[in-house]
Amino acid sequence: MYSLDLNQMSQNEFLTQYWQKKPVVIRQGFKDFVDPISMDEFAGIAMEEAVQSRLVSKQDGEWQAEFGPFESYDHLGEQDWSLVIQALDNFSEEAAELIEPFRFLPHWRLDDLMASFATKGGGVGPHIDNYDVFICQGTGKRHWRVGDRGEHTEVIAHEALLHVEPFEALIDVELETGDILYIPPGFPHEGIALEPSMSFSVGFRANSAISLLSGFADHLIDNDLGTQLLEDPNRQAIKNSGEITAQDYASIKQQLQNLLDDDKVFSHFVGNFLTSAKHELDLMPSDEPFAPEEVSELLGIHAIKRLGGLRAFYLEESIDNGVCYINGEQVNFAAELAPAIKLLCNQVVVMPDELAPWRENKAFVSLMVDLLDQGFWFWTES
Ligand code: SIN
Ligand code: CO
Repeated sequence: MYSLDLNQMSQNEFLTQYWQKKPVVIRQGFKDFVDPISMDEFAGIAMEEAVQSRLVSKQDGEWQAEFGPFESYDHLGEQDWSLVIQALDNFSEEAAELIEPFRFLPHWRLDDLMASFATKGGGVGPHIDNYDVFICQGTGKRHWRVGDRGEHTEVIAHEALLHVEPFEALIDVELETGDILYIPPGFPHEGIALEPSMSFSVGFRANSAISLLSGFADHLIDNDLGTQLLEDPNRQAIKNSGEITAQDYASIKQQLQNLLDDDKVFSHFVGNFLTSAKHELDLMPSDEPFAPEEVSELLGIHAIKRLGGLRAFYLEESIDNGVCYINGEQVNFAAELAPAIKLLCNQVVVMPDELAPWRENKAFVSLMVDLLDQGFWFWTES
């Protein structure tokens, strides 16, 4: 269990002063910090097929990048390289714990937990991210420089590495174990390991309008929506046939606006879109389907845990109508289950006593059977 100390700041003070505005170093944000996983375990995870990993190094002044899975690290020297794993929370329950202290931010904004191991001199180079990130220093020390937002020239240092030209530092610090560096989108930064070190980055990403629009278009196509043609039964004869009149322009715009204004359509898209997995899940569906009686009994004994990286949300507006979204799909349930569904969406672990009122509820048990069968939730110690 990691407990975050924002150095005398309340969560709201942090949000008001720094969130999306400026970078800040939070010294000893995690007191007595211990890496959630060992360097050896970390290197082992990057050998798995489903894991997105990268080895970044600098050889004779030239940046190099290789993508995993990796078979061995024996060819690498003692310094100037870094191993990065994306979505470590999907593959390590222990590492996923590091996300928990950041639950004062909504989970739909969360991207993933990225982690890196770097030897002395290792790093991924100077770059700009388009997400808010809390870089939590694990074992070892790293030197971090963060520049200001503004006009920066990006350069392709390697086909897989988009770097930024040298920048003046606003922040120039050595991070020690337990220190946290928060960086909003757009601020150039670079971390260089001073000794073998681990770093854990909790990243929050907001969608661009273009990704929303293209996701919305896919949703309309998949659900055969938005196929209505523009109608103009009241047309009058015009003189300038090459002209798109202001009225026609307005009705074309309105055609699209009508879809956005249709909350039934748009809210379902938002729920599906925001719960779609961003990185491959480590899904282990049950070999044999669970029986409802068994689930009902086990709910009284074991806690249930949500699979790392699984996204499950509800909209404030529609939860009481029996709608939530899990892993990119709309899930309908009996409206009376809303309080139980909130527990599943708001908490990673739900304890037997919290589910006691629902253990005998047939609709809830049947939903749980489904979620357990798919491997979306699993039993854990209470
Ligand atoms: C790293 O862990 O080396 C990179 C983290 C970042 O710059 O976002
Ligand atoms: Co970065």
